[in-house]
Amino acid sequence: MKITFIGAGNMAEAIVAGIIKQNVVEAADVCVTDINEERLDHFTEQYGVGRTTDNAAAVAQADVIVLSVKPQIFPDVWPEIERALKSDALVISIMAGIPSAKIANGKPIRVVRVMPNTPALVGEGAAGIAAGEFAVEADVEIACNLLGAVGVAVVVDEKEIDAVTALSGSGPAYVFYLLESMLEAAEQMGLEKGVSRELALSTVIGAAKLMRESGEEAAGLRAKVTSKGGTTHAAISTLEEHGVKDAVVAALKAAQTRSIELANG
Ligand SMILES: NC(=O)c1ccc[n+]([C@@H]2O[C@H](COP(=O)([O-])OP(=O)(O)OC[C@H]3O[C@@H](n4cnc5c(N)ncnc54)[C@H](OP(=O)(O)O)[C@@H]3O)[C@@H](O)[C@H]2O)c1
Repeated sequence: MKITFIGAGNMAEAIVAGIIKQNVVEAADVCVTDINEERLDHFTEQYGVGRTTDNAAAVAQADVIVLSVKPQIFPDVWPEIERALKSDALVISIMAGIPSAKIANGKPIRVVRVMPNTPALVGEGAAGIAAGEFAVEADVEIACNLLGAVGVAVVVDEKEIDAVTALSGSGPAYVFYLLESMLEAAEQMGLEKGVSRELALSTVIGAAKLMRESGEEAAGLRAKVTSKGGTTHAAISTLEEHGVKDAVVAALKAAQTRSIELANG
């Protein structure tokens, strides 16, 4: 299986690094394209993959094409890619906000749409994978194998992609926002920066790990550490008074709405 990545950016690098490290594919079967020669040099040196600035040439010999350019570049690159596609090629798009039907453009092109997130850069990504109209189960499996090399890959319906975008696509930013707030409070309470960074990061990672490994619900785990009259109770009551849960729900819905708007152009 020969795979070509169109756009040798950050996300493409995360996936290429993951699939080669995990032996999902051989470096010799991977090709990356970019307009930037320095990026291509970097990929060749780091991962030993093929490279070219010629999108059409790279597409012509590929079984799987991963569209990893920014969404705004899509209209510029797609016509030449579409013309060069092998008749049985699979197109996997990680571009935000571009529906599979827009890529297939009325033709029976097999498209799988992926919504990744940036922790893929450290092998801890969370990706939603959705089959376009003509994609078959084996196509979804290929996308799952690629994204599974850099984290968790979950299959969803394409109509759920906007919700996935709001939850896990944009999700890392919500966690960073929480961390920003926790660290600001730590500074105000006089904790040394390095110490508070370590404690806050381990708290977020540890809480997520505890929830995953225990299989318990978030509310149950929270109740366990919130005894009436205690310190956690004081904190959670303050969050509730400020309507933080409602704000988070509204925030995700706003992200979903924006994702739908972007997909509709
Ligand atoms: N859910 C998420 O959190 C998430 C996160 C990351 C990415 N994504 C999606 O993943 C995609 C890639 O994002 P990214 O952050 O990796 O972007 P990026 O770093 O900007 O990578 C895109 C690469 O494509 C290159 N490029 C521009 N025009 C090109 C052309 N005509 N042919 C070939 N390559 C070209 C760019 O070069 P120049 O820089 O020189 O223009 C850049 O190196 C985006 O569509 C984004 O929506 C989603």
